[in-house]
Amino acid sequence: MSHSKRDGFGSRFGALVALAGAAIGLGNLWRFPYLVGNNGGGAFILIYLAFVAILLLPIMYAEFVIGRRSQANVFGAVKKLAPKSWFITIGVLSVAVTITILSFYSVVGGWTIEYIVKSFSKGFLITDNEALKNSFSEFSSATYRPAIMHLIFLTLTALIVVGGIKDGIEKYTKFLTPMLFVIILILLIRSVTLPGASEGLKFLFYPDFSKLTASSFLDALGQGFFSLSLGMGCIITYASYVNKKENIRHMSLTTVVADTSFAVLAGIAVMPAVFAFGINPTSGPSLVFITLPQIFAQLPFGAVFSVLFFVVLFVAAITSSISMMEIVVAYLSEELKMSRKVAVLATSLVLAFTGILCSLSEGVLGGFKVFGKNLFDLFDYTSNNIMLPLGGLLVVLFVGWRLKKADVLDELTSAGTIPMKKQIFGAVIFILKFVAPIAIAIVMLSGIGLIKLF
Ligand code: PHE
Repeated sequence: MSHSKRDGFGSRFGALVALAGAAIGLGNLWRFPYLVGNNGGGAFILIYLAFVAILLLPIMYAEFVIGRRSQANVFGAVKKLAPKSWFITIGVLSVAVTITILSFYSVVGGWTIEYIVKSFSKGFLITDNEALKNSFSEFSSATYRPAIMHLIFLTLTALIVVGGIKDGIEKYTKFLTPMLFVIILILLIRSVTLPGASEGLKFLFYPDFSKLTASSFLDALGQGFFSLSLGMGCIITYASYVNKKENIRHMSLTTVVADTSFAVLAGIAVMPAVFAFGINPTSGPSLVFITLPQIFAQLPFGAVFSVLFFVVLFVAAITSSISMMEIVVAYLSEELKMSRKVAVLATSLVLAFTGILCSLSEGVLGGFKVFGKNLFDLFDYTSNNIMLPLGGLLVVLFVGWRLKKADVLDELTSAGTIPMKKQIFGAVIFILKFVAPIAIAIVMLSGIGLIKLF
């Protein structure tokens, strides 16, 4: 083992902005508002908050324990904490799911660049929904342009990651993550001051318990995993760069609060505007690339809001994509002893290729289907419904059953320097041992349709 000092976050603030930046991403901006609206508004928010507090925060603790205790990449972490154990699959899975998610994530990142540029052009902001729809599908199904945008996005990601933790990731997220909050607040103020905005607020917050179904619970948990970047080694990797003295319970809580509040802010920034113009809320790409431009077109200084919105989408995406790339780069450089530059290059080359395939699957390769899904949707589906929950399951089993309780406590209390109430520690262990594995198994099995709850 080399004795050269391992890179790490230079400050607590640096670690926090990097973690929050990893968590806040496309999931907050285009999935959360829609899920809330479709699952009984405030009722869904309540379930989501309950899952976050009871289940996901302890899982975040678990990932922090693995990462910070081992001070290694995901593979190295499991090898160090449990030599020769089958739990090494956590490492394998983490690299596989990262490549899978980042392939399509980077394509969407490329779309956001295209739309930032478009926002500046005359004639982009029109109210004609059909025309906007056509222009989006023409762009996303084209052969060259979206692929090039994906490569630009990937290159920017690589340029940040190659700088390392302190001089790359931390340096950039220090201003990018705060920027996210500033812009979303500007958009929020614009949105809630539109005439008719209250309908949108009602849609978001009025708790209609009659709209809740079994799948609302599953949606909430799945969204929580994705949004908090859990189950794929992202938090493990970032936590491995956190100073031994830091309070990791506090850091977990801050990350969770930042991500969750950003999701709620994004909902308030988007939905009232959608309702003020009497448009039906949709999800995903069509909400952000078709519906919102239609709204910006009707606002005074609409182009300014359009630029701000696509910038926020881009920044949210890139602070997440660097965290994903770091998972693979840490593995390649520490386990396969590549230099950081070579590791970033190798990762980028693989992603350039898999991303281009995803991009083309929206167009010329659309006919190539596996289980009735094109590559983009297949990657999206398998990562969300199978790989992330499986990763989460392995993590909780690992920390709950395999690691020594005393070691877990030692790490959560930073070697006993930050005391933790006995009952709280007991509750965390109980959740990791029993509650979380059962809950995740249910989500997973119903997500892939093997069991039906209702
Ligand atoms: N949390 C990010 C989002 O909400 C996505 C992500 C998942 C990022 C896993 C890193 C790791 O969009």
